Amino acid sequence: MSFEQLITIASLSDPNKPKYQAIADDLAQSIVAGQFAVGEKLPPQRDLALRLGVTAGTISRAYANLERQGLASARVGDGTYVRAVDPRTPSPDAAPLSLPIDLAHNVAIPTEDALALKRAFETLSLDHEVLKQVLSYQPEAGLMRHRHAGAQWLQRFGTSGQASRVMVTHGAQHGLACVLRTLARPGDTVLTESLSYPGLQALARSMRLQLIGVEMDADGMVPQALERAAKTYDTKFMYCSPSLHNPTGTTMPIARREAIAAVARRCNLWVIEDCVHAAAQASPLPALSTWLPDRSFLLSSFSKVIAPGLRVGFLEAAPEWLDKLAGSIRADSWMVAPLMPEIASHWIHSGELDHLIGLQRQAIAERLHVAKGALSGLDFQSDNDYPLLWMPLPEPWRAGQFAAALRHVGVLVRTADHFAVGRSAAPHAIRISLNSPATLEQLTSGLTVLKTLLDGPPTASMDP
Ligand SMILES: Cc1ncc(COP(=O)(O)O)c(C=O)c1O
Repeated sequence: MSFEQLITIASLSDPNKPKYQAIADDLAQSIVAGQFAVGEKLPPQRDLALRLGVTAGTISRAYANLERQGLASARVGDGTYVRAVDPRTPSPDAAPLSLPIDLAHNVAIPTEDALALKRAFETLSLDHEVLKQVLSYQPEAGLMRHRHAGAQWLQRFGTSGQASRVMVTHGAQHGLACVLRTLARPGDTVLTESLSYPGLQALARSMRLQLIGVEMDADGMVPQALERAAKTYDTKFMYCSPSLHNPTGTTMPIARREAIAAVARRCNLWVIEDCVHAAAQASPLPALSTWLPDRSFLLSSFSKVIAPGLRVGFLEAAPEWLDKLAGSIRADSWMVAPLMPEIASHWIHSGELDHLIGLQRQAIAERLHVAKGALSGLDFQSDNDYPLLWMPLPEPWRAGQFAAALRHVGVLVRTADHFAVGRSAAPHAIRISLNSPATLEQLTSGLTVLKTLLDGPPTASMDP
């Protein structure tokens, strides 16, 4: 690699880190991604320091950091050389990379959301009535105009558009907590997909609810298995994500939705439906709730399409439940902080929301394109509107063993175990988040390392 190329890589890309750490991290990611020849000599510390405008001590600390990670080795009186990094044979005594590439967390890809927030603040700051209102106590279910905005937004899932059925929450997880706390009692059983959203599992643990996993196939939850489980466990509750299920990305076709709704009605199940990921779809299928308006709770939020920090969700429920659900908010925090739904409502009415979702969809498409190139030849499940890949691992890989070997060479993923409900055996599969790395370069590096590791069988040194 030429000195000029190297200068671009070691570009102190993160101003929030100490300089030596930023340089070491930039170089480490390029070494792991195979951008350096093995045995290549890194430039003399003084030369690199001069070009980057830092002290020679900073470069010395950066090189030492690479050595500690097993990515480079210094030869006394000669210089520092890139070491062979084969993700398939990690050195047992090398420490994991200090800054792993994160393909594990599931977050919205930053687009123009910070700018949109600035624009919203500018507009809202001109309206003194609004400013006074958002600083005051409000009804527990939210201000009526926020509920109207939420009802309008939820219509994209085929709902009625009635504000009287909608309340504001601090995101979908809060909505889920309100529903379960209102309806369920400790010891109750909730049926869900055999692999399910970990936030439900955390809530079930804290509320002492029993979760039972229901078999899934390529179309989502299997209706016969749901009916069997409802009878066996004599339960009143189910939770599911019919569109872009986390982690598998499965979407239930219409016929399956009809069959699941019929079972829910026959077995008197309250249905809690999560459409957080479906928010990224241009034309989502009608929510399961539209078949069951009297016995369902539809959870939505902007966490996966704009920004999780907005903490705004809209929960649609049968009107007779609204007072009790509002009581749950009252017990928690009196109300949802009104400034956040004010911003969301402004975005819904001004068209900013659709614009931001459009940008998110573009960003997802771009990352999927990169992923399909980097992982060509490997089998995985994907969906055009979904930033997560689901990859059953080829024989003889075991999921835990693969994730540990991958972590050792600086890439993080989630295994199926993370989503497994109860003690049911999880498949040997991983979820790969395309939305978490800060840049496309980091995404490519992480996926390249993953593919290199998977391209051969595990070695004995990879056994945990
Ligand atoms: C299926 C699902 N539901 C809900 C959430 C959480 O949403 P929120 O941030 O709105 O609470 C997540 C976040 O990962 C999720 O994957």
